[in-house]
Amino acid sequence: MPEFPILDGKRILLVIAGGIAAYKSLELIRRLREQGCHVRCILTAGGARFVTPLTVSALSEDKVYQDLWSLTDESEMGHIRLSRSADLVVVAPATANLLAKMATGLADDLASTALLATDKPVLVAPAMNGVMWDHPATQTNVAVLTGRGVRRIGPNAGALACGETGSGRMAEPGEILAAIVGHFEGLAGSGRGLPLAGRRALVTSGPTIEPIDPVRYITNRSSGRQGHAIARGLAGLGASTILVTGPTAEPDPPGVQVIRIETADQMLAACQASLPVDVAVCAAAVADWRMRKVADHKLKKDQGEMPVLELTENPDILATLAKAGPHRPRLVVGFAAETRRIIEHAQAKLVRKGCDWIVANDVGQGTGTFGGERNTVHVLRAGSQGGPASVEDWPLLSKVSVGERLAVAIADHLSGSAPVRS
Ligand SMILES: Cc1cc2nc3c(=O)[nH]c(=O)nc-3n(C[C@H](O)[C@H](O)[C@H](O)COP(=O)(O)O)c2cc1C
Repeated sequence: MPEFPILDGKRILLVIAGGIAAYKSLELIRRLREQGCHVRCILTAGGARFVTPLTVSALSEDKVYQDLWSLTDESEMGHIRLSRSADLVVVAPATANLLAKMATGLADDLASTALLATDKPVLVAPAMNGVMWDHPATQTNVAVLTGRGVRRIGPNAGALACGETGSGRMAEPGEILAAIVGHFEGLAGSGRGLPLAGRRALVTSGPTIEPIDPVRYITNRSSGRQGHAIARGLAGLGASTILVTGPTAEPDPPGVQVIRIETADQMLAACQASLPVDVAVCAAAVADWRMRKVADHKLKKDQGEMPVLELTENPDILATLAKAGPHRPRLVVGFAAETRRIIEHAQAKLVRKGCDWIVANDVGQGTGTFGGERNTVHVLRAGSQGGPASVEDWPLLSKVSVGERLAVAIADHLSGSAPVRS
């Protein structure tokens, strides 16, 4: 049964490169076909080591393209026409190798040539060993591609096929499907008239997790529900929205570029790489502290003494963005999760962090805010020239409604100012 009518009849060119996660792309093809998409596949030589052309062809119900030099394919379709014969190009799995080729413009096989020749939007789903993903070469390539408008889903953190743990798991087929839906919904909603069309927004969401040793970590109860709803609200009003999120069970909001991180340091780096933006909303529950030194090996119980966890302060992402000099977002919004004297603490935070607005919410016991569906918030806006902040009390709302209402308030605030240029 089609769940996403927007996908019906859409043409997807799926590039399957040589990673173990290629098997998940078979499921993606099946899901896309169920939604009424036409799926045409390019399989790299590496990709064909992991999945057979026959399986890909049977699932996509189409020919599979593998060879740049195939006379038959060239006379039937031609590699340039192939690269343009889609509404969206999806690369899943996107190997470190193929990302590097895309970033540098190499075109030495059918996949990389089609990716260089395409004039269509491209979505990549990277998958690789965590060290390969963290390598500065890969991170630079990804940053270059993001700067060129290539959208990305994942990778996720977790156990990797190579036996290691880290960031590098390809997003699940359902997540990639949601990103594809988001892409088309974003296009449908990106028409003129939306109040945030042409604006760039950055939202942080979820908890951060700070490792103690290879198996333990410090985190908090943030579900990411409110941050994700804000990203959804901003994208719904037409903003080109980047969501930097710690690990959560929340689905990716449609039409939003999602960057997954684990630690506060990673969140700060991802935020800084996303600048300039018109508005930054810091809704993540960033851990205040991390271990001064993460143990290389699992701390053992039988060492005689209790381990002492020596902590050090994490970077202050909200204050850093509020002080970003020429790249400071026009509007910087922070969140204050308080359990008592909410307005007083939020007011102090507004001044201390140098941000423009604080959305204060009560996360005390019994409120059900953490992980719940609803939220009661108070919006504090900094007074002009250091004057007292104004306070607006919002009624109990669903977190989705808080996200929508905040997006409308942000659109009102930004109206009349020139959008930032990326
Ligand atoms: C068993 C095995 C698993 C691999 N898994 C990955 C992977 O998950 N991600 C990746 O980037 N490269 C992986 N590689 C390396 C790529 O296959 C290799 O870089 C290849 O040149 C990629 O070619 P392609 O990008 O044209 O498909 C793997 C290699 C082997 C032998």
